[in-house]
Amino acid sequence: MRTRPLKVALLGCGVVGSEVARIMTTHADDLAQRIGAPVELAGVAVRRPSKVRDGIDPALVTTDATALVKRGDIDVVVEVIGGIEPARTLITTAFAHGASVVSANKALLAQDGAALHAAADEHGKDLYYEAAVAGAIPLIRPLRESLAGDKINRVMGIVNGTTNFILDKMDSTGAGYQEALDEATALGYAEADPTADVEAFDAAAKAAILAGIAFHTRVRLDDVYREGMTEVTAADFASAKNMGCTIKLLAICERAADGGSVTARVHPAMIPLTHPLASVRGAYNAVFVESDAAGQLMFYGPGAGGAPTASAVLGDLVAVCRNRLSGATGPGESAYAALPVSPMGDVVTRYHISLDVADKPGVLAQVATVFAEHGVSIDTVRQHGRQDGDGEASLVVVTHRASDASLSGTVEALRKLDTVRGVASIMRVEGE
Ligand code: HSE
Repeated sequence: MRTRPLKVALLGCGVVGSEVARIMTTHADDLAQRIGAPVELAGVAVRRPSKVRDGIDPALVTTDATALVKRGDIDVVVEVIGGIEPARTLITTAFAHGASVVSANKALLAQDGAALHAAADEHGKDLYYEAAVAGAIPLIRPLRESLAGDKINRVMGIVNGTTNFILDKMDSTGAGYQEALDEATALGYAEADPTADVEAFDAAAKAAILAGIAFHTRVRLDDVYREGMTEVTAADFASAKNMGCTIKLLAICERAADGGSVTARVHPAMIPLTHPLASVRGAYNAVFVESDAAGQLMFYGPGAGGAPTASAVLGDLVAVCRNRLSGATGPGESAYAALPVSPMGDVVTRYHISLDVADKPGVLAQVATVFAEHGVSIDTVRQHGRQDGDGEASLVVVTHRASDASLSGTVEALRKLDTVRGVASIMRVEGE
C-alpha cells in the first residue's frame, strides 16, 4: 500500500459534509485498505469558521474555498455546498488545478452537467455524483456502469423524500395537503421554505440527470416537464382508492416507442397499489428501471439525510481515489445518442379526470362527444348525483392511453361547455 496519502478538500461542512468528514476519520483504516493509500482531509471550506465542528481540526478550516481548490496538491475535491455559484466555478477551478471532483449538487449537474463533464475531460479528471440523485441509493453507477450493456427504456421513480412523506401522510390519514405539510415541517422533513420540494424543482433536476445517463443523451433541467404536488387533495386520494391506486410524485423518463426521442417529466400521478413504487412509504425514495435485457429493476432506500448521502459521497471518493492511483479516469459523459427531448404534449399515458357537471339529460353524451372529438378513448365513467339537490353531479372519467396534447385539448373544450361547471382535477395514471 502506498504510504503517501491522497489529499481531499471538503467544500461545505453542513449536514452532509460533517458526515463525510466523520466517516473519513472513523473508517480511515478501512478506506486506506480499500483504496490502496490513506486519504487525508487536507482542508475544509466553510462559510462560518467560528462554528464548532466536532472531530475536525480547526487548523483545516478556511473560508477561502478558491484558495483551497487552487492549492495544487489536492487529489479530490468533495463539493457539498449545493447551488449553482460558487460551486460551478470552484469545481472547474479544481479540475484546472489537478483535482478530481465528487459532488452532490443535483441543481448544478442538471443545469450544467455537459460543461462540467467537458471541463473534467479537458483536464483528464473524474467527475462523480452518486449523491446527487436519491441520496444513499446506488443509482448513477448502476445506470452508468452496470447497465451500460443494456438498453434502458424507462426510469420511473420517487426521488424526493419530503413530498413522498407528505403524500404518504395524506394517503394513510386522509389529511389535506397543508396539514400533511405542517407535520412534515414539524418533524424536520420539510424545510421552512418547501418550494423546491413541493413544486418539484428538486425532483426535476434529478429527472434530468437520470434521463441523460439512462438514454446516453443530453437532458437539461429546462427539458423536464414539471408540475408540483400542492394541488393534490384528499378527494384525489379518495378517487385513487376507488381505483385501487395511490398518488405519488413521480419522475418519469421514457424512450419513445420508436426509439427516436425521449421525454422527462415530474408530476403527481395515480399508481396501482400493486406497483412496487406504491409501497414506498414515508421519506424513502425508490427508482424503477425497465430495460430490454434485465427487465424490471427497483432501487430503494433513503434519499436524503447526512449519513445516507455521505455514504454515496464516500463510495465516489473511494472510486475516484482508486482511479487516481491507477492513473485512469472513470466513465465521463455519454451523450452519443443525441436524442431529441420531446415536449410534454407528445407523452402518452392514461388520465383520471374529475368534473362537476349539471345533472340533467344529455350531459354524459355531450361530455363523451368532446372526448371522442379529440381522439381520447374513455375507459370508465362513474357518476354520482349530489344529495344536496343542487342539480349537479360529479363525473369521473378514466381514459385509455392518449397524448397529453389530446387530453389538454379535451379539457379545454370541456371547460367551454355550459353543463360542465368545473374541472375538479386531472391526474395522470401511471404504472399499469
Ligand atoms: N429535499 C430533498 C428530498 C433532499 O426531500 O428528497 C434530497 O435531495
